[in-house]
This record gives sequence, structure tokens and C-alpha cells, in this order.
Amino acid sequence: MSLRLGDIAPDFTAETSIGPINFHEYLGNSWGVLFSHPADFTPVCTTELGKTAQLKAEFDKRNVKVMVVSVDSVAQHLSWINDINETQHTEVNFPIIADQDRKVSTLYDMIHPNASETTTVRSLFIIGPDKKVKLMIVYPASTGRNFVEVLRVIDSLQLTAKHSVATPADWKHGEDVIVVPSISTEDAIKKFPKGVKVVKPYLRYTPEPDPA
Ligand code: BEZ
Repeated sequence: MSLRLGDIAPDFTAETSIGPINFHEYLGNSWGVLFSHPADFTPVCTTELGKTAQLKAEFDKRNVKVMVVSVDSVAQHLSWINDINETQHTEVNFPIIADQDRKVSTLYDMIHPNASETTTVRSLFIIGPDKKVKLMIVYPASTGRNFVEVLRVIDSLQLTAKHSVATPADWKHGEDVIVVPSISTEDAIKKFPKGVKVVKPYLRYTPEPDPA
């Protein structure tokens, strides 16, 4: 059965570009991003992994550990990592799983046979410190993902996990957020000392709360 939001992210132990890793142990108390891509030595994937490596400081700031799934071998990963570092002017700084037996790809439903029988699509999972799946996105092979958007979603997930707020369309860190519908306006005024702006009874904004 395919994964759904709120499910525990399946645990596994796998060979990776930095040796065998148990996924849940690797995550520890951190947030996690696990993503697949079609194959090593392919152009779009090269840019995606390069971009992810370039954003390491941003992932670290948010306490997020990254792991990548690829159906190629460790030897191929190590050779491809050299190419990524060279062409994307970075240092790949996260493990890449050698999922030749498709164990992880199958656990996470990353092979969509009507897209490709043999390679993974561009699936991406964000996993919380409670090991539950918080977000899933699936892109086709031909479209590289926006990793700044992934960071934006992590900002929203981390904020909304701590405060009774939701984030509006295109929200970015620092902008006003939405008071969740389950809180009355009377309670919201008490709860959000920075103020509550009532546009409609169901559409209420407050400045982004300070970190808890
Ligand atoms: C790529 O990663 O560049 C790619 C892989 C499969 C199909 C198209 C592009």
C-alpha cells in the first residue's frame, strides 16, 4: 500500500555512498528529506543533487538531514559524485542509497510503472522528528524540483507544528500567517500578542509568531 501523510516513514538499512546506514538512526531527532531521482549520470539529477549540496547550510539551520535514493551502485554513485562536485561547484554532503534491489524505492512507492518500469520518479518526502511523513511530492523525470520551495515548506511545517497557525499561498518566512479555524477570534487575540487581523470570520491573519 502506498504511503500517506501521517504514516510512519518506513525504516530500512541500506548501502549508501558513505557506507551502510539505518534510516531512522541516521535521522535521530532531526527532520529528514528523502528523495529519489531516475538515475546517476543524468543531467537534471546532476543539477538537483548539486543544488541540494549547495543548500547544506540552509538544511542544517533547520535541523534537516538529507538522504537520496538512486537505483545505481555505490561505485557509480562515487564516480557521479565527482561529476556533481565538478560541474555544480559544490561538495555532495549527504548519503546516496545504492538501491539496486529497489528495496527502498518499493517501500516508498517511488517506481511508477506507467512512467518507467525500471527507474524511480522524482519523489520527495519530508519526515518529522516523530518519523511521520509530513509532505510528499512527485515530479516527472523531465522536471527538476525547486529545492528552495522544499526549504519554504520545511519552514511552514516547523512553524505550524509549534503554533496554531497555517501558512497562506506563497508564504515565506517572516510574512503574516493564518490563524487556524479551530481557534475562536477571542482566543486568538489572547494567544497571539502581536495582534490578529480579521478579514472574514474564517480568514484571520497574525504576524509570524516568534520561535517557541
Ligand atoms: C535527468 O535526470 O536529466 C533525466 C532523467 C530521465 C529523463 C529525463 C531527464
